Amino acid sequence: QHRQRIVAGNWKMHGSRSFVSEYVPALLGKLDTLDADTRVVLIPPSIYIGEVRAQVQNRATQQPRITWGAQNVSAEAEGAFTGEIAAEMARDQGCDYCIVGHSERRHLFAETDEVVAAKVEQIVAHGLTAIVCVGETLSQRQAGQAEQVVARQVEACLAKVPGNSWDKIVLAYEPVWAIGTGKTASAGDAQAIHASIRKVLENMQAPAQTIPLLYGGSVKPDNAEELFAQPDIDGGLVGGASLDAESFSAICRAC
Ligand code: G3H
Repeated sequence: QHRQRIVAGNWKMHGSRSFVSEYVPALLGKLDTLDADTRVVLIPPSIYIGEVRAQVQNRATQQPRITWGAQNVSAEAEGAFTGEIAAEMARDQGCDYCIVGHSERRHLFAETDEVVAAKVEQIVAHGLTAIVCVGETLSQRQAGQAEQVVARQVEACLAKVPGNSWDKIVLAYEPVWAIGTGKTASAGDAQAIHASIRKVLENMQAPAQTIPLLYGGSVKPDNAEELFAQPDIDGGLVGGASLDAESFSAICRAC
């Protein structure tokens, strides 16, 4: 089964206009030898999406293999929600992807699976692809509950996906204890969870074999190749290492 391979760089709350104007051209220059099957998604803070877009569009030959996305959108379509951005606005800025359910949103901004499901609904309704994040905490893993927790999140977060929109879903398995800590899940442990996610998707009557499953959590140039070589790992969601053009391009080329 053919599955899209994807490396997404989540800048989180980092960057500036001058960073964008130096980093993006430097990165694009290093991605000329990218595997033809791999998509690279740049996900800056929303205020810089327009600048990233302009930089990528300057190199039209690399589109659509290199594209951009948003870190978050509202669960509402539009209205009096000061500070929020709508999925439709992200689409208007040419975004192809939107992250949703990142553990930082869940833990720091109290986003529940229900909120995530509502956001996923907005995202796919506006023609964007949702990168839906799931993952267990350290205590859940230590209690032997990792698979269960992830299965519950997958089911709840994808509860509102219309039957004709599964091609707009990407899942990212990000064990919370591996995010920004330098601790990566072993390739074997990550593969085991990814395989279990495919079973959950099958039980949901989703096209389990074609939905891309990304791994996230301290992906670096020196562990990317082994992770991406696993049969059910189709790429990565990269935080810290995506902010360095040299490291991120090496990770992209490993995919
Ligand atoms: O969205 C990205 C993940 O949270 C991973 O972040 O690569 O800095 O561990 P990290």
